[in-house]
Order: sequence, then structure tokens, then C-alpha cells
Amino acid sequence: MAATNPWLLPFFLLLAAAYSDQLPPSSAQFPFPETTSTAVPDPTKFFSPSLLSSPLPTNSFFQNFVLNKGDLPEYIHPYLIRTANSSLSVSYPSRTSNTSITQLPFSPDLTISSVSNKTHFVSSFSDLAVDLDIGEFRFHLVRGSPYLTFSVLKTSSVSISTGGNGVDSVDSYDGSTKHIIRLSNGRNWVVYSTAAIYLMKAKSSEIVTSGGFSGVIRVAVLPNSAAETEQILDRYSGCYPVSGYAKLSGNFGFSYKWQKKGSGGLLMLAHPLHRRVLPENLTVLQNFKYGSIDGDLVGVVGDSWDLNFAPIPITWHSINGIERKFFPEIVAALKHDVGTLNVTELSSTAASYFYGKLLARAARLALIAEEVDYAAGVIPAVVKFLKTGIQPWLDGKFGRNGFLYDRKWAGLVTKNGATSKTEDFGFGIYNDHHFHLGYFVYSIAVLAKLDRNWGNQYKAPAYALVHDYMNYRSRNTQFSIPFRNFDFWKLHSWAAGLTEFPDGRNQESTSEAINAYYAAALMGLAYGDESLTAVGSALTAAEIAAAQTWWHVNRGGRSSIYDEGFTEENRVVGILWSGARESRLWFASAEWRECRVGIQVLPVVPVTERVFADEGFVKEVVEWVSPALEREDAGEGWKGFVYALEGIYDKKNAVGKVKKLKKHDDGNSLSNLLWWIYSRPERQG
Ligand SMILES: *[C@@H]1O[C@H](CO)[C@@H](O)[C@H](O)[C@H]1NC(C)=O
Ligand SMILES: *[C@@H]1O[C@H](CO)[C@@H](O)[C@H](O)[C@H]1NC(C)=O
Ligand SMILES: *[C@@H]1O[C@H](CO)[C@@H](O)[C@H](O)[C@H]1NC(C)=O
Ligand SMILES: *[C@@H]1O[C@H](CO)[C@@H](O)[C@H](O)[C@H]1NC(C)=O
Ligand SMILES: *[C@@H]1O[C@H](CO)[C@@H](O)[C@H](O)[C@H]1NC(C)=O
Repeated sequence: MAATNPWLLPFFLLLAAAYSDQLPPSSAQFPFPETTSTAVPDPTKFFSPSLLSSPLPTNSFFQNFVLNKGDLPEYIHPYLIRTANSSLSVSYPSRTSNTSITQLPFSPDLTISSVSNKTHFVSSFSDLAVDLDIGEFRFHLVRGSPYLTFSVLKTSSVSISTGGNGVDSVDSYDGSTKHIIRLSNGRNWVVYSTAAIYLMKAKSSEIVTSGGFSGVIRVAVLPNSAAETEQILDRYSGCYPVSGYAKLSGNFGFSYKWQKKGSGGLLMLAHPLHRRVLPENLTVLQNFKYGSIDGDLVGVVGDSWDLNFAPIPITWHSINGIERKFFPEIVAALKHDVGTLNVTELSSTAASYFYGKLLARAARLALIAEEVDYAAGVIPAVVKFLKTGIQPWLDGKFGRNGFLYDRKWAGLVTKNGATSKTEDFGFGIYNDHHFHLGYFVYSIAVLAKLDRNWGNQYKAPAYALVHDYMNYRSRNTQFSIPFRNFDFWKLHSWAAGLTEFPDGRNQESTSEAINAYYAAALMGLAYGDESLTAVGSALTAAEIAAAQTWWHVNRGGRSSIYDEGFTEENRVVGILWSGARESRLWFASAEWRECRVGIQVLPVVPVTERVFADEGFVKEVVEWVSPALEREDAGEGWKGFVYALEGIYDKKNAVGKVKKLKKHDDGNSLSNLLWWIYSRPERQG
């Protein structure tokens, strides 16, 4: 989604019209001072020079291609792609799985080599695609394309090697514009070319063109032996995508539009979440299927898709309200919790993540108080605490840390993260931005709601925080890449940042990602900015649906996505990678199930209700995690989140347990847990 995105413009202009008085006019006025980070890598090697003047992606589906040596694979469904040493390898991976990990091992089927001996670089990118240039080849890596497509820009020979796999045969069809390569590993690949190409077996594991070629070559694995599969690939081989853009189309809708070349219809693949939100009138080829770690991918014909999520309510307060009989208990807890707000604790907390959580915890107390008749006048104390806590970060006057601007990758970093890859959990290398900033934005939204004047005074830095992770503007995008964390094809976010990983990007906490977009939507409410609310709401809905599809391992429901052993052992995924699923966490082993559940629940806010809407599944999760709570080292804070889930179907038991807790998570409180449980809708029957 670079500046060269003509298709998005009308939508963005529409937004900008409602919003123009809030646009910072130039980068010189970015509200945080610039720093020269020593923690970030140098982006210049793997991007075309023309891309370097605009913000670069830091959490994208092709990040491995532009970090360090750029030679780790990325998952461009349905293929793993790796580029190194002037060549590009494609693998149609076979999933391996046991009870603790599901993974796509990279084992190249075909390696396409350039004679140029040039390093690859990104020549353009869009929401759904990236162009990778290697010498005379331009690979159009488009997510969900069953074909790997590349243009040979200058006449040259093409050499395809098959690594450890022998070539059984190379057969030629249709005037040598179609070939089938049969490998000794049993894989059969079809090669289509826009002109005759004379592919010949040169050595046991090498295929070469006998003469020069220029034009377009498309390569696809035959995922099964059905004649129909090959016929479908034949039929749609003439039309290829070169880029793809996503836009938000209002009212929880997303649209994809691919720019295509050639002739005929465009054949793409849809993953299980796509299929839930695609309209029924789209042509779906049910029998045309590829395997993936995200579930079966099926063929869809069309160069634009509309995806429609069910609307979710974005509210400050609980969605269903609380019965008055519960007010006194909540009021008592609020008085106590507000009394313990501790400015000294806050100002001695340097880490942006923990600081943000302390703020958001306090902000919740004010909103809960509003809901129980403005309980006992506690709100002014919360407002005072929030101002004291938030202002130093927005004014740049917090001695222990602060927000700064990194021009190299165009985004916010923390002062402590600007000299360290590990401080603030890697915030300085663009890890976890939406998590940390989500807590700040939540707190700012609440404070701006409670004190309009304060909100107006701090509007510019407040918006800068949102724009860092959810930049949806057409103009002045030089501050930060649009939608830093959100992946429009997977329809959820990645945390990860600028570190190369063998399995691609990852995200652990879906609930903190949901909170980030929910917080942005609330900030839109606080400032009367409908565009901001619309964008935040749509991303909240998508992130929730993706969490339910891929993180929540729901045996009973729609989820037959993972293999049996993994599904039996896990009710939630720990770390979800682009190319792997793990039951461990970054900070805990797989056995610490209370952490694994908690990190998918926190922070408990009104929209949490929509994340855990399936009561049958919630019960399964609680039963699955309960034995872990018996461990002596199981933390009280984590237990609180499990009881919050139990409260969805058993208020009485859950309240009893919550009241016995000796401590709460640093972002949680007794008030918040009581508010949550007492606001659960009464069960029918
Ligand atoms: C690239 O070449 C170097 C040097 O020959 C080699 O060590 C490395 O393994 C190669 N990388 C890949 C991915 O083939
Ligand atoms: C699962 O596979 C991974 C990777 O192959 C291995 O490290 C791990 O020990 C296996 N776990 C179990 C429980 O078998
Ligand atoms: C290819 O380039 C690398 C480094 O740029 C160099 O070390 C190597 O000798 C070159 N190989 C050939 C065949 O030119
Ligand atoms: C599918 O239906 C929508 C309205 O529901 C319509 O806008 C769209 O044009 C239809 N698409 C096709 C391919 O018929
Ligand atoms: C406030 O926090 C500081 C630093 O964590 C701590 O030393 C102090 O005891 C706390 N004050 C109260 C009243 O709890």
C-alpha cells in the first residue's frame, strides 16, 4: 500500500474530507521529535530506490525478503517462497503436525535462477502482492494465486533446478506453451508461458530453456491428480494478477481489487475466513482445492471481492447493561481500586507496555463508574491520574522514556527502544506497536471523552499514536505506513516487527490487537470523527473473526483447520506464525495454559463479549485450562481471566472465585472483573 495506490484514493478522499482539519500539514510538524535509531536495520538494500522516499512496511507478509540477507522463506499462499543467491525457490509445503506444533517445512520443489548474479529487491508492493526483481526476472508474488507468475523482462535463458528431487519427465503441450514437470518426489508442476519455451531436462535435477525467452511464465503445482484440476488451471492460465489492493468499504465491509494482465477470468484462492464473509454470488470452484496451514484454499473466479463482516457494537459501556442490584458491590470495589491509583508506581514504570496497561486499567475504572450511576464521585480522581500519567508522554517530558520518530522506517519508536532491539519488547524495531499504543489510545480516548478541552489540546499527538499503527489517510502518509500491523489478506494483525523469522511474521495476543482497533474506534467517538470510528470498527470485527478462525481451536464448531493431534491438545494457539502454529508462548511454556488463555482475553473490555460469543467453546476452554490453575506458581492475575470466561456461563461461581483473588493483572482490577461478570447477559432457559 504505497503512495502509488490509485484505487484507494476515492475512499481516502472521502475520509479526508470529513477529517481534513485534523491532518498534520507536513512532516515537519510531526508531534514527536526525530531520533536516529541505532536499533533498526538499514532498509536500502532490498527496496527499489523509488520506494525509499515513502514509508516502508515493518510487519508485512514479505518482511523476511527485506531483512538481514533477505533469504528466509515467506508464505505466499499456497506456496512457500524463498529467494537467495539470484534465484527464487518455490515449495508447495506438506504440513507437519504433532500435539505442540504445526508447521510448514520449506523444501524447495523448483528453483528458478537468474544468470545475472544480482541480489533481489522489492520493486513495488501493495496490500495483497509484492513484486520481487531478480536480474531480468520480475516475480509477481500475489497472495492466494495458485500460480507463481514471473515476467522475463529481457530476453534471456531460464534455468529451473529441482534441488534434491530428480526430474522424472518434462512433457510439452500446446505448441510448447505448456509443460508438465514430473518430479521424483511425486509432485507435478505445470508451466505456462506466453510464447513457446523449449524446456528440456539438462541434468537429472535441472531443466533449461534451449533458447532465449521473454514474456510471462506461470508455474503451478497440481495439488491432486484430478483431470478437472489441470483443466481449471489451463482455463485461467491466461490472466495474471500483478498487484492487489484492499479498501474498507464502510459498514464492516472490505473489498479486494486485483490489477490483472492477460485475458480471461482471474482465478484466486480463498481461505476459510474469506469464505465465511464472501458473498454467495461469487463463483467458487469447490473442488479446486489447495492445502494450507490456514485450512483448505478453494478457487474463486473474479478480480474483485467484497467481504462483509457482521457488525459489532462499539460502545464505551457494557453492551447489555448491568442490573441495579449489582451496583453496590461494584461501587465498593471502585472506591477501593481508585484509592489505590498510585502515581509513584506509574512514574517509576519506564516500559511503554506496562505503563500503557496501568493507564488503561485506570481508564476502565472511570467508564465503569459512569455505568453504575457515576459511583461515589470517583471519576475526578481517575481524570487527574490519567492526565498526570498521559501528558508526560505526549509532551515529551517523561524522563524515563518517550515517543520519538524514526525516519528510516517512518514510525514511532520509544526513547529506550531507539538504542535497543529488546527494550520495550522490541518496540524500537516495530514489534508490538498496536499492543502498546492500543492501551495509550484507549486511555486517551477515555480522557478526551471525560474532558473535551483536554482532548482538543492533545489531539495532534493523540492522532499520531493512532496513525502509527492504523494510518488510513491518503495524504501526508509520510509519517507512517498505512495499517502497519494489519494484514488485509489474512484479515488480522502481525506483531513481529523487523526481525527475520523462519516461519514469517507472528502474533500472540489477539485480544490486545482487537483492543488496539477498538480503542481507535472509541477515539473516533471521543472526537466526533466518524471516519476513524468506521475504520477502527471494521478492523475490530475482522480481528475478532480471525481470532475465532485461527487462534480459537474449536473442536465442535467449524474448525477442522488443524490436524487431529494438535486440535485435541490445544483449545487456543499460543504463537501463531504465518507458517506455523505453536502451543508455547513467548513468555511461558505450553503447560502454562492459564497464560495462554489470559493473553487471548486481556484486556477485558465491552467488545470482549463478541470475541467469546460461543458459550460452548468458552466452556471447553475453561475445562481445558482449569487443571493448570492448581499449580502453585499459577499467577493470580492470569486466573482472573479464566474466571472472566467462566463468568460467561456461570456468574455465581465466577464471582466467588474472583473475590478470593489476592492480586489482579496489572491491567485488570476487581472492579473490572465484577463489572464484566455482572454485565453478562442472563442465559436463556
Ligand atoms: C547462497 O550461497 C551461499 C554461498 O555459496 C551458500 O552458503 C548459501 O547456502 C546459499 N543460500 C541458499 C539459500 O541456497
Ligand atoms: C513436535 O515436533 C517438534 C518439531 O518437529 C518437536 O521439536 C517437538 O518435540 C514435538 N513435540 C511433541 C510433543 O512430539
Ligand atoms: C556473484 O556475486 C557475488 C557477490 O556479489 C560474488 O562474490 C560472486 O563471485 C559472483 N558470482 C559470479 C558467478 O559472478
Ligand atoms: C453479487 O451481489 C452483489 C449485491 O449483493 C452485487 O453488488 C454484485 O454485483 C454481485 N456480483 C456478481 C458477480 O453477480
Ligand atoms: C506506590 O508505588 C510505589 C512504587 O511502586 C510504592 O513504593 C508505594 O508503596 C506505593 N504506594 C502505595 C500507597 O501503595
